[in-house]
Amino acid sequence: MIELTDLTKIYGHGDERTVVLDRINFRVDAGEILAVVGPSGAGKSTLAQCVNLLTAPTSGSVVVNGDDLTTLSSRELRVARRRIGTVFQSSGLFERRTAAENVALPLEYLGVTPVETRARVAELLDRVGLTERANHYPFQLSGGQRQRVGVARALALRPSVLLSDEATAGLDPTTTESVVALLRELRDDLSLSIVFITHEMDTVLKIADSVARLDRGSIVESGRLVELLTDPDSSLGAELRPQGVAASAATGQQVWHVVYDAPDVPADWIARASADLGAPLSVLGASVQQIGGVTIGAATLGIPERFDSRAAEVLARYGLATNTEGRIDPALEGVA
Ligand SMILES: Nc1ncnc2c1ncn2[C@@H]1O[C@H](COP(=O)(O)OP(=O)(O)O)[C@@H](O)[C@H]1O
Ligand SMILES: [Mg+2]
Repeated sequence: MIELTDLTKIYGHGDERTVVLDRINFRVDAGEILAVVGPSGAGKSTLAQCVNLLTAPTSGSVVVNGDDLTTLSSRELRVARRRIGTVFQSSGLFERRTAAENVALPLEYLGVTPVETRARVAELLDRVGLTERANHYPFQLSGGQRQRVGVARALALRPSVLLSDEATAGLDPTTTESVVALLRELRDDLSLSIVFITHEMDTVLKIADSVARLDRGSIVESGRLVELLTDPDSSLGAELRPQGVAASAATGQQVWHVVYDAPDVPADWIARASADLGAPLSVLGASVQQIGGVTIGAATLGIPERFDSRAAEVLARYGLATNTEGRIDPALEGVA
């Protein structure tokens, strides 16, 4: 478990003073992945450095498994920091060391015996699916394999928290997918708390249990992924939602977007809502996706104009939330 309370980071003094992180609060339980999203310059990397205490926060606390790391002496901190493993974008591998030697590094620093180190490294490389690549040098590995070595090394000291700062940035979609799958597997098998920092919204959808959006040093929106996706008023949810087909309505129709938690909605909702409304709803686009173990449906509907004032109420009967933002005709704002 990791919990941040009012974590603040200020660089400089007086006129030069910059508040890079302003009272950040979140908690990630064991076996959970929190994605922290935000544009470049939002403070994501500063957050990562404060979380693993590479940079001292100006104020606030970072509690890992009950201990506040910000109150420890530098000696205690050296030990406590082992609870947090970190993976970076470029994986930070030593080019003159093989994959196995890179993974062994943290163990060597700790003075673990060579015999124990060899056994642990073999176990870690197996864990990330790279047994075959143990003696390869970084330049002989693909981008995804290098990240896996980085993950194995981050896990060497059996941390309970894994911190990832843009670990999938610059990877192609298939490689990103495999790194994401590995992290999810580790979350489950090792009950890790994972803080996954990224600027890529589509990766968030694949990995997160919950999401926090960082903007200019503050968390401006956060929540469980599934709740954000199904909340028609969440702007973060709207950005995260798989984009539906760009739809154009026939004349006399309004275009609405609906999102829903599929198990809560009857399969024949379109027919039933059309019957209740007394007019056919046309489906201009639809998708159903497995996200975080939940089936999220999204549909773009053409609503006959004459029925628009009743449509939101009828759709709500079937557990469908309509998105006022998605109503393309501004005249319809506020109808629901
Ligand atoms: N050592 C520093 N001194 C002063 N400002 C810094 C320092 N490190 C980062 N910043 C500032 O903090 C802000 C956030 O940077 P960063 O955490 O790297 O953002 P992100 O990772 O979201 O792109 C930027 O405006 C950056 O200029
Ligand atoms: Mg960054």
